[in-house]
Amino acid sequence: MKTSQLSIFTNQELPEQPSIVDNNLQDSASYIHVANRIPVNIPNGAFISIERLTPLKVYSLGFQPAKTIPEIPYWFLEKYTAEGAVILEPFAGSGTSIIEALKLSRRVVWLDYHPLSQLTCQVKTTRLSLAEVLDECSKITKDLDFAKVPSSSVNFSNKDFWFQKPVQEGLEILKDRIFSSKAIYKPVLLLAFASTVRKCSDMNDGMILAARRSNVKEVPKRTRSDVFKYFHFYIEKVLESLAQWYQLDWDTSWVKEAESRDARSLNGDWTCDAIVTSPPYVNAIDYVWASKFELHWLDFVKSDRDRLNLYSKEIGTERIPSLEYKQLGKTGHKKLDDLIAEIFYGNKYKASKGQNELRARVVYKYFIDMKQHFSSCYEKLREGGYYCFSVGDLSKICGVDLAVADSLVDFATDIGFHEVFRFHLLLKNRKLNIPRNVNWAGIIKHDTIVVLQKKITQLILFILSRVQSNNSHHFVLKKVPCRSQ
Ligand SMILES: C[S@@+](CC[C@H](N)C(=O)[O-])C[C@H]1O[C@@H](n2cnc3c(N)ncnc32)[C@H](O)[C@@H]1O
Repeated sequence: MKTSQLSIFTNQELPEQPSIVDNNLQDSASYIHVANRIPVNIPNGAFISIERLTPLKVYSLGFQPAKTIPEIPYWFLEKYTAEGAVILEPFAGSGTSIIEALKLSRRVVWLDYHPLSQLTCQVKTTRLSLAEVLDECSKITKDLDFAKVPSSSVNFSNKDFWFQKPVQEGLEILKDRIFSSKAIYKPVLLLAFASTVRKCSDMNDGMILAARRSNVKEVPKRTRSDVFKYFHFYIEKVLESLAQWYQLDWDTSWVKEAESRDARSLNGDWTCDAIVTSPPYVNAIDYVWASKFELHWLDFVKSDRDRLNLYSKEIGTERIPSLEYKQLGKTGHKKLDDLIAEIFYGNKYKASKGQNELRARVVYKYFIDMKQHFSSCYEKLREGGYYCFSVGDLSKICGVDLAVADSLVDFATDIGFHEVFRFHLLLKNRKLNIPRNVNWAGIIKHDTIVVLQKKITQLILFILSRVQSNNSHHFVLKKVPCRSQ
C-alpha cells in the first residue's frame, strides 16, 4: 500500500449519517486509515487500518485469544440499528460486542458455548457493589500463608509438568476459599483466579496453548505466596476495570444470556432486530486446548474426558475422530467442495500422515456448522434485520487458498440473506502464539466484515413504502418489540 493512498480522517470531520438501508453499493477498493472510530460512511469494499484510542479496561478482562476490536461492532450498531433495538451476539467470547451494544443503549441477548466465556460475560454484565466484593476478597484471603492445603481436587493430564508443587498447593487453597465464598461474588473472584492459574503455570508469557516446545524460556521457581500475590494483583485489575465500566450508563436489565449455549440451535421464545458477532476462525484456534488449565482449575470440567467432550460443541474444532475424517465431506457448495477435495487429496501440499484428510474435514465441518448457525439466526432475526460478522480471512490451508468470508456469504444467501456491505480490516500484530506446522495450518491475513440483511417479504415492503411516503425522507430503523426477553 502506498502512503499516497491513505487518507486520515476522524469522526469529527465526517457528518453522522442516519441508519439507512444500504442499497446503493459502490464497488470501490479504497485504502483508508481511520482514527478513533470507523466512520459510518466508509465506502463499500474499503480496506481500513485503524489508529485506536486507549480502550476501556473492561475489554481486557477474560482470556480470549481472538478478541474483536470494539470499533467493529460499534460501527455496525451505529449504522444499522437504533436505540432500544435487541441485538444478538451468538459467539460472545469476552463480550466485546455486548459492551458496545450496552454503551449505545441497545438491548442484548448473548451466548457462547465455552464456560470461560460465559463466566467473563456474566461478570461484565452484572453490577455489584465493588466495596462488598473487596470485603469478601479480604475475608477469603485472610491468613492464606498459614492455611492448610486441602486435598487435591483437580486432575488432568500433565498437571505436574505445567504446575510446580507449591503453585498447586497455593491454587488449591485459593480455590477452596473462593468456592466457599458468597455466591454473588464468586464469578468475579473466579475471573481473577482464572488469570492467576494461567500466570502461575509454567507456560511462558504470551503462549496461548500448553504445548511443549524447543524454545521454552526457563520459568522461575514459584512459591505458594507468589500464587496469592498474583491473585491480589488480578483481583485489583478486575475491580479497577469494573469500576471504570460501571461509570458508564448501562443497565443490567438490558442484557440476557440466551437459554441455548450453542449458536447452531438458538431456541427460546424471542426475536432480535440485529446480530453482530465474530464467529470462530476455521482451523486457527483450539479454544478447549487453549483454556485447558482454567477449565480444570475452575471446575468447569472434572476430567480429561469431560474436557474433550467440549469439542463436540465447538464450531471450527480440529478434534475429529479419524473414522469421520477419512471420508471426503461435501457441503453442496461446488467451488468450496473442489477446494476441500484439493486439501483432502493433497494436490497442492502433501502434509504428514492423515493431516490432509483431517484439515479437509475441519473445513467441511466448519462450513456445515456455520450454515446451521445462519439458519438458526434467520429464524430469530426479524424481517429486514441485519447480521454483521467479522471473520479472519485465511490465505492457505495445505496450500489451498480459502476465501472464508465469501463462502460464508454464499451459504447465508442460500438461506435467505443478502449482502449489503463489506469492508476489510488490515491487521497489525496478529500474533497467534501457537506452535504448529504453518504449511497446513491456517494463516489469517486480514479480517473481513460483512453485513447481511434478512430478506423482506412483499407485505412488509408494501407497509414500509406506505410509512416512508407518509412520514419522512429517510427510512430510520424503528424499535421492534421483542417477545419475552
Ligand atoms: C472469535 S471468538 C469471539 C471473540 C469475541 N468477539 C471477543 O471479542 O471476545 C469466537 C467465539 O465463539 C465461541 N464458539 C465456538 N463454537 C460455538 C458454538 N457452537 N456456540 C456458541 N459459541 C461458540 C468460542 O468459544 C469463542 O468464544
